[in-house]
Amino acid sequence: MNWKEEYRKKISKPAEAIKSIRDGQCVVMGHAAAAPRLIQQALADHCEDYNDVLIYHMTTLGDNPCYKPHCFGHFRHVSNFLAANSREVIERREGDFFPAYFKDVPSMIGSDIPCDVAVFQTTPPNAEGYCSLGVSCDYAKAAIRAAKTVIIETNEMMPFTYGDTLVHVSQIDHIIPCAYRLQELQLPAPGEVELAIGRHCASLVADGATLQLGIGAIPDAVLRSLADKNDLGIHSEMFSGGVMDLMRSGVVNGSRKTLHRGKAVVTFIMGTRELYDFVDENPDVEFHPVDYVNNPLVIAQNDRMVSINSCLEVDLQGQVASETIGIRQYSGIGGQVDFIRGASLAREGKAVIAMPSTAAGGKISRIKPFLTEGAAVSTSRNDVDYICTEYGIARLKGRTLQHRAEDLIRIAHPDFRPALAEEYERRFHTQYRD
Ligand code: COA
Repeated sequence: MNWKEEYRKKISKPAEAIKSIRDGQCVVMGHAAAAPRLIQQALADHCEDYNDVLIYHMTTLGDNPCYKPHCFGHFRHVSNFLAANSREVIERREGDFFPAYFKDVPSMIGSDIPCDVAVFQTTPPNAEGYCSLGVSCDYAKAAIRAAKTVIIETNEMMPFTYGDTLVHVSQIDHIIPCAYRLQELQLPAPGEVELAIGRHCASLVADGATLQLGIGAIPDAVLRSLADKNDLGIHSEMFSGGVMDLMRSGVVNGSRKTLHRGKAVVTFIMGTRELYDFVDENPDVEFHPVDYVNNPLVIAQNDRMVSINSCLEVDLQGQVASETIGIRQYSGIGGQVDFIRGASLAREGKAVIAMPSTAAGGKISRIKPFLTEGAAVSTSRNDVDYICTEYGIARLKGRTLQHRAEDLIRIAHPDFRPALAEEYERRFHTQYRD
């Protein structure tokens, strides 16, 4: 049978395709802008037909119909990276969070993460019958390989991306041709604090550096401060619009990259339609699975690698909490530690954690004597390298506990420095000098 015939025979409607999902099974779904929206809606519409179906995905964008209260009790959700809507579902105990590095997810699928059914979104097939995974490559191939049943929404609005993104029609059981807008992420314009942080981070980025940019408000502010740099490269778990702007202006051209020269390497993107159009059939951007992109040994092959991630709080030893506020699970580890380790292993590499000095409208210092009770340590004091706030940069690697505390107090918000200095004096029996 040629692929076109096969394609035609596999065409299905969402309500039909979901009949292959049985009670008690585990469904692994695409995430972020590549979430399979039609299957999610069909499952929500027919939730009464299901009991105890476990749904795994990474982060979510916007609305997910399966999170609606009428679906409670029919589906359970598991994720290792939370966003606003999944946080709420997990707080209602309709699901749970599992701690795991994002890079380990592909190897966990089929064993630690059972995968009866894989549901993803791709482009329609090309002339050879290959569909592209588009904006989200990450764990899709691992799930498609492991699943007993594969359901794919072939969306005409999904950009065709290059790298390692191809899935053949012969690997799919149910095909749902469609055309709908991908979910978008609009980043708020950075404020003064974020821009000051961006300028400090930019001082650590040399011409010819390869960058990884984490998730949140800070990375985009950093990108705005890089307009006068030259020959930058990208090797990042994800990126948004800021990278597109620097690629268009030629600041990011990958010409001095020591791995994948000339290519921006990423595992998924989230942004506006303009970004999705930018990566469509763009040979300058390569999408690869997350176990490759986030592997510290791969990251380390990029000379002058600079990783820039954010966090929620740091204690005076340099322990970094990026995913929890006390015992509340806020997001996940993603690739933070893998990029910090990869950058540390790279020739002339630097690993930066950048955050505003305060949270909650200035009421809370993010630099603290102790992490909030119950907080998980994301980046340990042994891995931490640079910490940056709007007040400057503290280099912690190679520094003693006492020097770390001194340097961190200097970049804390001035309102909180006296209390931190008090703790410093209690701990080190020495007067703190500014
Ligand atoms: N105590 C109490 N509240 C805090 C807090 C603290 N220490 N730190 C932050 N908050 C609050 C903020 O005030 C804000 O509240 P609001 O939404 O009511 O304004 C909220 O928590 C989010 O903080 P913010 O710093 O604005 O988050 P962000 O969107 O910039 O994301 C991280 C920051 C750390 C959550 C995000 O970068 C992350 O998840 N990192 C870990 C994963 C990672 O680095 N991956 C990298 C590879 S992609």
